Amino acid sequence: MRTPIIAGNWKMYKTLHESVDFVRELAPRLAPFTGVERVVCPTFVALAAVAEALKGTDIKVGAQNMNWEAQGAFTSQIAPTMLQGLVEYVIIGHSEVRAYLHETDEDINRKVKAALAYGLKPIIAVGESLAQNEAGETEQFVGGQVRTALNGISADNMRNIVIAYEPIWAIGTGKNASGDLANSIIGGTIRGTLAQLYGNDVAQSVRIQYGGSVKPGNMAEYMSQPDIDGALVGGASLKVDDFTQLVEAAAKAKGV
Ligand code: PGA
Repeated sequence: MRTPIIAGNWKMYKTLHESVDFVRELAPRLAPFTGVERVVCPTFVALAAVAEALKGTDIKVGAQNMNWEAQGAFTSQIAPTMLQGLVEYVIIGHSEVRAYLHETDEDINRKVKAALAYGLKPIIAVGESLAQNEAGETEQFVGGQVRTALNGISADNMRNIVIAYEPIWAIGTGKNASGDLANSIIGGTIRGTLAQLYGNDVAQSVRIQYGGSVKPGNMAEYMSQPDIDGALVGGASLKVDDFTQLVEAAAKAKGV
């Protein structure tokens, strides 16, 4: 069985102190739901303090991006060597990083390889724009993103990778994809691509999240879908009550 995974992507929200206070309040609330893997992804400046505050809990920490180089003259960048030992997960390919920092599919592939090389688990985000969706290009586009991101990645490494399907038109807009639509892209397109690349056993074993305006009110709709294994959550992960309800809904729907 695939263990459900809910990751909170805090984006550029919460100061250092707010981040620490938040996880101190959140950790005991999430403690009962041990069947769900729970991850928070604060800003870089809060990572160390949040990791420290979560010591002794089973809540994991993730980064929101990284460079693929081990070190070097790359002003402003964070290397995988700096995340090693500090976080378990790293979000790679978020649509905001693709759009604002001009990250390409090839960059994403380099980052995925670097993350794995340093023992970090990538959460690879993929998803189509509204225009692509309306033009009926979703399957081809998302399938292509998955293929390029995973270029040269072995089947063995797939157990350390999570994929997040996040249609761009659903992120932060309140216009979430229906559970059926998300399940068909995740189960059909993404698992279908994984099956072509690695065979059906691997395709069935990889965890795939939905992301885009996930809220306590629609979480059950996603978690009741057979191919959706969790959520990558922005806005609703910034509130303790909402985050707790999301994890609770996942635990209930998946029976864990
Ligand atoms: P949202 O963001 O939940 O606020 O739509 C999701 C994401 O960007 O990962």
